[in-house]
Amino acid sequence: MYVFHPILQFIMVILVFFCASKVHSRNIGLEDAQIAKTIVVDSKGQGAFTSVQKAIDSIPPNGQTWTLIKIKAGTYKEKVKIPIDKPFIALQGEGRASTVIQWGEGGGATTNGTLTVEPPNFVAADILFKNTYNTDFPKSVHQVQPAPAAVLYGDKASFYRCGFIGVQDTFTDAIGRHYLNSCYFEGSTDFIWGSGQSIYEECIINATAGGYITAQGRDTPKFNSGFVFLSSKIVGNGPAYLGRAYRPYSTVVFKDTVMPRMIQPQGWNIWNQKDEKLITYAEVNCTGYDKSKRVKWEKELSPQELDSFINVNNFINKDGWLEKQPKF
Ligand SMILES: *[C@@H]1O[C@H](CO)[C@@H](O)[C@H](O)[C@H]1NC(C)=O
Ligand SMILES: *[C@@H]1O[C@H](CO)[C@@H](O)[C@H](O)[C@H]1NC(C)=O
Ligand SMILES: *[C@@H]1O[C@H](CO)[C@@H](O)[C@H](O)[C@H]1NC(C)=O
Repeated sequence: MYVFHPILQFIMVILVFFCASKVHSRNIGLEDAQIAKTIVVDSKGQGAFTSVQKAIDSIPPNGQTWTLIKIKAGTYKEKVKIPIDKPFIALQGEGRASTVIQWGEGGGATTNGTLTVEPPNFVAADILFKNTYNTDFPKSVHQVQPAPAAVLYGDKASFYRCGFIGVQDTFTDAIGRHYLNSCYFEGSTDFIWGSGQSIYEECIINATAGGYITAQGRDTPKFNSGFVFLSSKIVGNGPAYLGRAYRPYSTVVFKDTVMPRMIQPQGWNIWNQKDEKLITYAEVNCTGYDKSKRVKWEKELSPQELDSFINVNNFINKDGWLEKQPKF
C-alpha cells in the first residue's frame, strides 16, 4: 500500500467517497430491504449468466431497489467490480467453502481487488473472495505485493459469513461504514487496512506469517474512522502484531477476542508515526495475552469511549442503514 503517494491516495479515497455520497443522496428515502429482482449465476450454465460480472453488467445504472445475485457453488475466476452507479446490489453464494471468486493481480492495494465495491449500499453473504497473486506462485516468480481480495470504497456495506484470502493487504477497508459478521480473513502483512469505519463481529483472523494484522489509517481527530473487533478469534502462526499505525490517529479496538500466544508481546507498532498519544489502540476483555508486555501507550478506554466504539448503533449505524439492508 506504499505504492501510491499517501496524500494522493487519500485525495482519491475522499473523491470516491464524495461521489458515492452524491449517488446516495439521490436515493434518500427510497432504501428498502426488499429485493426487487433476483439473478442467478451458475458456472455450470443453469443460471442467467456464468459470470458474476456479466450479471452485474446487466443491471441498469442508478437503480433504487435491491437486486440479489445468487451465485451457485463453483469457482469463478474473474475480477468483480460493482461500479459507482450501481448501488443496492447483494451477492449471495452457497457458503465460503463452495462459492469462490478468485483472481490474481498484484501491485495495487486499491486497484487490484478481486472484488471492488464503489457505491454505497452493498451486501455479500456466503462467498469466498481470494487474491491468488501471492499464494499461487513461489517467491522466485515475484516478490510479495499488495494484492487485495476485496477493496471497499462504498459507505454502508455489510458482509456475512464471507472469507477473504490473500497475503498482503487482503482486505482494503478503504473508506465508509461497514459491518462484517462471521467472516474469515487470511494474510500476513497489513491484511485488514484502510480508513474505513467498521465493525468486525465474530470473525476469524488468520495471521499466516510474521507481520501486521491491521494498518488502520485514521488521519484526523474529526474523521471518525477505526476498526472494532468484537467476539473474534485470532489464529495462525504469526508472529504478528495486532496493528501498526498507518496514519497519525490510527484507531483499532479488540473486545472479547481470543489472542493466541504467537501475537508479538508488545502488541502494536507505531510504524512511522511521531506521536503515540494520538493513536487509539485498545484491548478490552480479551484473553490469552500478557498485558504487562504490551506497549505502554495502549489506551485504557473510559466506559463512554468504549461504548462509542463497541455499540454498533453508535459507531456505524446512527442512521439505521443496517436495518434497511436485506438480511442473510
Ligand atoms: C494493479 O495495480 C498496479 C499498481 O497500482 C497497476 O499498475 C495495475 O494497472 C493494476 N491493475 C489493474 C487492472 O488495475
Ligand atoms: C490459516 O491459513 C493457513 C494458510 O492458508 C492454513 O493452512 C490454515 O489452515 C489456516 N488456519 C485456519 C484456522 O483456518
Ligand atoms: C468478556 O468476554 C467473555 C467472552 O470471552 C464474555 O462472555 C463476557 O461477557 C465478557 N465480559 C464483559 C464484561 O464484556
